[in-house]
Amino acid sequence: MNTFALVTLLVLAGCQMSRVAGGDDRAGVPIEPTREPTLPEAAEGRFLIGTAIMARALDDPAVADLIRTQYNAITAENELKPKSVQPEPGAFDFTAGDKLADFAEANDIALIGHTLVWHQQAPAWMFEDEAGEPLPRDEALENMRAHIHTVVKHFKGRVHGWDVVNEAISDNGPYLRDTPALRAIGDDYVIKAFEFAREADPDVELYYNDFNIELDYKRDKALRLLAELDAAGVRPDRVGIQGHWLIGGPDIEQLERGLTAYFDAGYDIDITELDIDMLPRDAAGADLDISPGAVGNPYADGLPDERQQALADRYREIFELLTKYDERISRVTFWGTHDGATWLNGWPVRGRTNHPLLFDRQLQPKPAFDAVIEVLQAKKQ
Ligand code: XIL
Repeated sequence: MNTFALVTLLVLAGCQMSRVAGGDDRAGVPIEPTREPTLPEAAEGRFLIGTAIMARALDDPAVADLIRTQYNAITAENELKPKSVQPEPGAFDFTAGDKLADFAEANDIALIGHTLVWHQQAPAWMFEDEAGEPLPRDEALENMRAHIHTVVKHFKGRVHGWDVVNEAISDNGPYLRDTPALRAIGDDYVIKAFEFAREADPDVELYYNDFNIELDYKRDKALRLLAELDAAGVRPDRVGIQGHWLIGGPDIEQLERGLTAYFDAGYDIDITELDIDMLPRDAAGADLDISPGAVGNPYADGLPDERQQALADRYREIFELLTKYDERISRVTFWGTHDGATWLNGWPVRGRTNHPLLFDRQLQPKPAFDAVIEVLQAKKQ
């Protein structure tokens, strides 16, 4: 190979590497993370504006700048989940979590710990024996206690709040989801998790976090769990409503009914995982292996103007609702920083191109960003 061919190859390889997930090329596009006002500036006095990130996002200077500028809270997207932190009994790994904590501290950003107990991304050994049978209650409780104590104490003073238990409410059963923790410990595993977290750090905020608990089919079950936590003396500081919503629903009246039910019951909330899915779901369900072809990947080359506008309108109505109740809401966190880094590119269908956030793959603010800023800046009614 002559030198020219080699140089050409290297240049091509370089271009390839500068591509971000989803195929857009960021090279040559001026980044505008400093556009004024920023989201936290516009939301000041109402709520924190957060983003879920993985520690490696901080290695990309443009992304790190965007996070620093446009968000004043970060949630660990994966790296503080039980399987990441304690894959094997007693083998704790805080590397990624410490990196997030250092970044948060250096930039005056609130770090949210996600999550201490969840049935996914959790090591099997914590609640099950090798045959997959539930461990005896005492053993499972001790595993959960040791995990929660070690993790919460490690981050004491550096984490603003913990999602103590994630997604404990059943979607189709009468009350709690059937999980390894529940099978080993019993329904009170949620109460125990909050007790252990409170013991480990008397000052940190503690949240119960779940999806669709604002909707009619799950709300009463969640309110029952909150009442039980309250009765046990471990009332969560706030309720995390994930907010993985769709472009087509739930409609805003339903969301308002859902949020106000919590306010009426005396609970304040956070929106903890906000994104708006722009892609068809159909029969996809949660089957990760279904091919993109089966349900389609209509916006692989970008969002058409009309859809871009629909997304802006959807965010506008959502933020109109959230600002209306901002006295009861402390934080609104997006699940991802930009469209190149959203789990919805891979869920519920692998390998699609989704556009659920306020910044596109080139880190540019979308019309939805302008809509949100406008609502945040509008005078309170
Ligand atoms: C998701 C992450 O975004 C993905 O990177 C990971 O592969 C799976 O988990 N509800 C939650 C989050 O509480 O922890 C999930 O995060 C998204 C759904």
